[in-house]
Amino acid sequence: MNVLHKLWNQLVADEVRRKSRAGKEDPWRPKLHIAPPVGWLNDPNGLCEYQGVYHAFYQFAPFGAEGGLKFWGHAVSRDLLHWEYQGAPLSPDQPFDCHGVYSGSALAEEDGLYLYYTGNVKHAGDYDYVCTGRESNTVLAVSRDGMQAEKKELLMTAADYPEEMTLHVRDPKVWKQDGIYYMIQGARTRKNKGVALLFSSEDRRHFRFVRCLESKEAFGYMWECPDLFELDGKTVFAISPQGVEAKGLRYQNLYQSVTCFLDGDFRSAGTPDNFRELDGGFDFYAPQTFLSGDGRRIQIGWMGLPDVKDYTNPTVDYGWQHVLTLPRELSVKDGVLCQNPVRELAAWWNQEERFTGGFQKQTDSCYELEVENGGRDVRITIASGLLLHWDRQKKIFWMEFQDPKLGAGRTRRGREVPEVSRIRVLADVSCVEVFMNEGQDVFSTRYYPKEDQYRVTVEGEDIKGNYRSHRDCR
Ligand code: FRU
Repeated sequence: MNVLHKLWNQLVADEVRRKSRAGKEDPWRPKLHIAPPVGWLNDPNGLCEYQGVYHAFYQFAPFGAEGGLKFWGHAVSRDLLHWEYQGAPLSPDQPFDCHGVYSGSALAEEDGLYLYYTGNVKHAGDYDYVCTGRESNTVLAVSRDGMQAEKKELLMTAADYPEEMTLHVRDPKVWKQDGIYYMIQGARTRKNKGVALLFSSEDRRHFRFVRCLESKEAFGYMWECPDLFELDGKTVFAISPQGVEAKGLRYQNLYQSVTCFLDGDFRSAGTPDNFRELDGGFDFYAPQTFLSGDGRRIQIGWMGLPDVKDYTNPTVDYGWQHVLTLPRELSVKDGVLCQNPVRELAAWWNQEERFTGGFQKQTDSCYELEVENGGRDVRITIASGLLLHWDRQKKIFWMEFQDPKLGAGRTRRGREVPEVSRIRVLADVSCVEVFMNEGQDVFSTRYYPKEDQYRVTVEGEDIKGNYRSHRDCR
């Protein structure tokens, strides 16, 4: 093991130990969502199932709840619900990644786990860090046991990317299809257009540029964290663009996460356009997917956003910030990409209450609420200050904080939803994910209730539903 990595490992472990010894009560640590033990978390990285275990790596800045030098944090699970922190297996310990082990993906192969990421380097000096002063290196780290990476190999540098790109090329997603390895990276062109670069390889190490995927008109100046996969007969393309302007109710967050379907064979055809936002809430960015052993396409997103000024996360007072979403199963129904919590979640709940008509309850901090709606207006109030409301007349679904403190600055998000027949709310201490109509529309947000504020009210003229909780998990 590299000496610097050993040292980093020690420092990270000390930081985690220091935090757990501090023993400060932590009212907002979720039960089901992956959160960093200490410090800052952003994008999910290297999601995979390897040798029967689920792995979620993530962007991790262990030394500060407001961010800092990036490592890969690591959590493992056997059921996608109980996650265990495993340390920081990738640290910035090489000249080609010394200013951050940035986002990337995992390729689970017979002989090892291949972790691809961007090695971030920023040179000291008077640079714009867009066209000058920066390196975005494509790096491979191989792990045999899925826990420790044995060695890092530098695969590509700026010289290997198309000439019209700036130095912002990053977040390699690698997968195998028809015996060939593909890699897609996010990029910003010199004309400030967000694009994605497709590469292919026969040996997992030597990648050749295939084509640039770009929309007809610019859709933002930079595309981060791209993903591309086949699902239910469609080719799904996902990106997290920066620089897209708000348009009515759409694109209200600072940065977006969107998908579209590509026509034709992605290797030679298909123009990404007609994007749809993956999530209508306040906290969702940089999602990634993987294929589970049983053939499910599972997505996890960062339940947060970079650079946001209008709202905050008071967990910072407890030494950490941000979580990942619950793993979501993806499917295509009626031409719409749907996201639903993984089916494993059903086994988590061991108490259930059914209701017909209105419902009101002092709740646990972690619960699921399912509401069936016969087509009339419906209002769900969470923690006396977060209103989920479908306006039947205007055909808009709103997520609205009526208690500003509860939302820590979050206000209101809405989306056109023509019908609402079913709403599923997953509330996990400081996280709320709302799934509508079998996952066609999803809203995610953080929220910060006081201990005695956990309750829910459901109002509607034609509703029935279920409230589910876990007996030993209040
Ligand atoms: C997205 C992102 C990625 C980058 C990483 C750095 O949130 O900016 O493009 O690799 O975060 O933490």
